[in-house]
This record gives sequence, C-alpha cells and structure tokens, in this order.
Amino acid sequence: MAKMWAGRFSKEVDETVNAFNSSISFDGRMYRQDIQGSIAHAEMLGRCGIISVEDSKQIQAGLKEILCDIEEGKLELDMTAEDIHMFVEAELTKRYGDVGKRLHTSRSRNDQVALDIRLYLREEIVEIKKFVVELIKTLCDIASENLDTVMPGYTHLQRAQPITFAHHMMAYAQMLLRDLARLSDTSDRMNFNPLGSCALAGTTYPIDRQLTSQLLGFEGPVVNSLDGVSDRDFCVELACALSLLMTHLSRFSEEIIMWCSWEFKFIELDDAYATGSSIMPQKKNPDITELIRGKTGRVTGDLVTLLSMLKGLPLAYNKDMQEDKEAIFDAIDNVKLCLKTFIPMIRTMRLNKENMRQAAARGFINATDCADYLVKKGMPFRDAYKITGQLVALCISRSLTLETLPLDEYKQYTDIFDEDVYTAINLETCVNQRNSEGGPSPSAVKVQIEKTLEQLKKVEADD
Ligand code: ARG
Repeated sequence: MAKMWAGRFSKEVDETVNAFNSSISFDGRMYRQDIQGSIAHAEMLGRCGIISVEDSKQIQAGLKEILCDIEEGKLELDMTAEDIHMFVEAELTKRYGDVGKRLHTSRSRNDQVALDIRLYLREEIVEIKKFVVELIKTLCDIASENLDTVMPGYTHLQRAQPITFAHHMMAYAQMLLRDLARLSDTSDRMNFNPLGSCALAGTTYPIDRQLTSQLLGFEGPVVNSLDGVSDRDFCVELACALSLLMTHLSRFSEEIIMWCSWEFKFIELDDAYATGSSIMPQKKNPDITELIRGKTGRVTGDLVTLLSMLKGLPLAYNKDMQEDKEAIFDAIDNVKLCLKTFIPMIRTMRLNKENMRQAAARGFINATDCADYLVKKGMPFRDAYKITGQLVALCISRSLTLETLPLDEYKQYTDIFDEDVYTAINLETCVNQRNSEGGPSPSAVKVQIEKTLEQLKKVEADD
C-alpha cells in the first residue's frame, strides 16, 4: 500500500521494515471506533467551517459506507497497510478522491489512536462488567442454596473454624464487587477526549473540542494536548484492574482444583466442564480452572509490559506506544474467555455436602468454641485456651474428638464443664452462633447476600 507520508522519501520502505512497523494485524479490530471518531471529526470540521459542509457530509457518508462494507465482509482489511487509521483514510480517498484527502485536516494519528483505544476500551469494559455482574449473581444463587452447608474454614490450609459454603462464596462476591468498582473508576477516568491534541501541540484551525467530546459521549476534552497524545494511564489502570480480577478468579480456581481432588472431594464438576486423560482412564481433570490460574500470569504480564513500555518515554508520542494494544487486547480477550467459561462451570458444579461436613467434623475446628464456652462461664480467655489445648492433645492421643470425649474427662480439667458443653461444640451450634456481622451463620450470610444484591443494583443503575 502506498504511503501517505511518501512525499519526503526518495525510496520505498524495505519490506521487512514495513511488516515490522505495521500494526493493522492487531489494531484492525478498532475499525469501528476509528470510523466513529472520524465521523465526529468530519462533522466538527464542517460545522466549524474548516472544510465545507458538503465535503463533511460526503466524508461522513463515505465512512459509513466503508463501515458497512467491512461489517458485511465486502471490504477486507489490507494487511500491508501501516495501521487501521491509514487504511480507512486511504479507502476513503480511493472512493472519493480529494474529498477524502480533507479528512485528516487538523488531526494526527497520534490523537486519532489515543481516541480509538479509549473508545474501544470503554466498550470492552461494559462487556466485562456484565460478565462480572453475572458471576456475582451466580455466587449469590449458590450461596442462597447453601446457607447451612457446613464446611471447614482454613488458615494455613489447616482446618481452623467452621464456616458454610455460602459464606465462602460470598467472600468471592465481595472481591468481585470491588473489581466492578475498579472497572467503573477506570472507565470514568479514561472518558475524556484526546481528539484535537493533534500531533502534540494542538492546532491553528478553529476546532471545537467540546463538540467532538459531546458527539463521542466523553465527559469533556483532555485538558492538555501533550498529555492527550502521551497518556496511556488508562491502559495500565485497566490492566491492573483486570490483573486483580484474574487474581481473584485464580485463587477461586485453586480452591476448586483442591476441592475436586480425592483428598477433598467437596465438589464435582459437570462433565461438560472437565476433561479426561489420554492414558489414565479414571481421570477427570479440572483443566478450565488450571488454565485460568495459568492465564492470570499472562494478564499480570500484560500489566508489566505496559508499565515497562511507558516508563522511559519522553513526551509526547513515541512508536513504543504502539505496543500498548497487543498487551491490553490480550488481557481483555483472556479475561472475557475466562469469565465466559468460569460462570457456567461453577453454576453446574455439584456439592458433596456430606464430605464437607465430615471434614468439618474432624480437625478440632470447634476448639475455639470450646474455649469460648468456658469464657462465657467466667473463665479468662487465656486459661480457657490452655485447657482446650490440653483437651485437644488428650483427644489426639486417644483418637477421640471433642464431641466423643466423656464429660468426666472434661471435668478433670475444670469443674465448669457440664453436659451443655456438647451443645456448645456441636458444629451446627458453632456455625449458627457465629452470628457477628459478616460472619458465617445463615442469618449473617443472608444479610451479606442482600447487601451484595443491593450493591449490584446500584452498579447496574449507574451504567
Ligand atoms: N499505529 C500507531 C500506534 O498504534 C498509530 C500512531 C502512529 N503515529 C505516528 N506518529 N507514527 O501507535
């Protein structure tokens, strides 16, 4: 494809350099946003008298035509073009001659690309948020069905205290709500219009940046033209929000991987969301979750790519910045893929409540409750803690549990113990009495579900 900037050059660019320089293979996906931006720019040029109204109308109609042709598969992107911006402009000129050549008046690819990415990411964020909302709703559903599904809560991966599956699910719901808020913040902060920054130093033409901002649904123009073309903070911010989202999915995935193992057997994945082994006939592997865990590293890598790309760049535009797109697109694509598979996978997983309960019944996860029993009868916590520790050691040496240890053994340590200790250390009692705000009792988790759904409604209303 002939270069629009060929005027200053006496030779064609080397083919390898051309391919190296070209970004259309990955920025071609922004064709719609590029055309949308150009239409707004042409409208503004016409209204401000920078080009004639007829030319402006012709350009806009031509751009719409090109958009339709691309969407209907009638026009293929030329992979030898330098980028999507050059391609669209060249196509317009091919079709409309001199009129097409007027489009780039008072504009540079520098503000054009800064605009296109913002438009593109703005839309992608809306889509990702929809997935996250769906995932949170799914978690609320699973939680509502499992308010009294007792399981061990862990610290150091050692059984610690009794919780419920609902409580565990709602922990992830809260993390995801914060992810949603981060995505919204990022979107709000990026929603300013760089168009009119031109190459870096604005323009001598009487442009109207308020108008293009309005036409493109921006809060307003970017305040400083150098910043307008140099800023890629929004890519970094988004990559950061996505990395955290993936980190949450990855921790969840790791738990699902453990819960599927024979060692836990807390859950079973639906056959549609698991895979087999080529040699071991008995295997049912949680590949999806492992891939999500793996892809989390990749998305974090995208964030690091963006930060490292930017850190040494002088103002304003530098070609290094072309590298922003592959990184942020990769992050977006993978996050969407992961959410799309993760949601139905958890929606269809089956719980093995009996195994969860049995795991909760072993490991002395009611030891704190035993100590609290003594405290509530007047003993200082440290003394109660020590006695309970001794009781646990005694149970371990005799292969007993706190539930099966006879009362007279309890009484050897303190007379405060009575028949009612067995009720106090009963698993259901332990869970039900953990009724503090945010705790695992069914009534406390019900409140968490309600609050989460309320927060979701707010997010949906703001969008
Ligand atoms: N393809 C380029 C990019 O993605 C567009 C901007 C080119 N600007 C320039 N001055 N060469 O960054």
